[in-house]
Amino acid sequence: MIILGVESTAHTFGIGIVTDKGKILANVKDSYTSKDAGMIPHEIAEHHEKVAEMILKEAFKTAKVKWEDIEFIAYSAGPGLDPALWKGYHIVTKWAKEHRKKLAGVNHCCAHLSIGKMWNKLKDPVYLYVSGVNTQVIIQEKNKYLVLGETLDIGLGNMLDKFGRILGLGFPSGPKIEELAKKGKYIELPYAVKGMDVSFSGLLTKAQQLVERKKSSKEDLCFSLQETAFAMCAEVAERALAHTGKKELLLVGGVGANKRFCEMLDLMCRERNAKFYKVPVDLAGDQGAMIAWEGFLRKDEVREMTINPHWRADEV
Ligand code: ATP
Ligand code: FE2
Repeated sequence: MIILGVESTAHTFGIGIVTDKGKILANVKDSYTSKDAGMIPHEIAEHHEKVAEMILKEAFKTAKVKWEDIEFIAYSAGPGLDPALWKGYHIVTKWAKEHRKKLAGVNHCCAHLSIGKMWNKLKDPVYLYVSGVNTQVIIQEKNKYLVLGETLDIGLGNMLDKFGRILGLGFPSGPKIEELAKKGKYIELPYAVKGMDVSFSGLLTKAQQLVERKKSSKEDLCFSLQETAFAMCAEVAERALAHTGKKELLLVGGVGANKRFCEMLDLMCRERNAKFYKVPVDLAGDQGAMIAWEGFLRKDEVREMTINPHWRADEV
């Protein structure tokens, strides 16, 4: 069985073609970027409209398949930005009608988790899901996801993007902050862990104030912002491992591309005899392969839906 997965919850329009054995035949995407602003919703929808047919063509070419080979179309139904989700939904409905395929709406967060689990062949990890919008520590219980802890305000990726915007780094800022941080030294910033939850807004405000005072270098601020935020996530992930007795930690989501973050989590896991897992960069951020795979895993669940912008992993 071959499944086509379409991602369009936010900045990325992606198409993945995956087999029922988890073989990724194609994973093609194009992401909206902007020089100085963040994401402008109507520009994202225009971006997706513009690239959709081209991405589809390239995905088919790479996978060496045709519409006839596709069993059904899985698409990301949420959570995400309204205009991006609707644009994606309209595109897949059009393709589904033209080629007489069934549609399956899947949850974007669950897709991040399942592609990581499949890629690393894991049974029952603690998930640390850290992307633009989300920062969550999750476990699976009887086929349901349980969020053990999460951000009380903004997601870590969004925090980095907001700080990058203050420095004029452009969107997305995560990779640029990672580069600048390599040459930085540590400055103390507010560290906010509350039980199993974290909070990033105080950290961001303080870092912004330091930019305005012009006394600290960009490099030092980027380094210290990363160290503080990553340590907060490592602390709650460690607590989750301690309380559940699980021995595997899996990092998923776009911020998982950060090497320093992985290094810190790996060290924490080693110190407590657990094992750290991540996903390759091309599977860490948003893409269609994860949507296709999640669609396959849930192919027998009936889902009559359009989009759901606020759909959480623990509501699936
Ligand atoms: P969600 O999955 O919660 O809906 P999303 O789809 O916007 O959010 P992803 O594509 O999973 O998120 O991740 C995007 C985020 O990852 C952006 O905020 C970006 O700045 C961040 N990011 C990407 N690369 C890096 C990196 N090397 N270091 C830190 N952050 C990074
Ligand atoms: Fe995502």
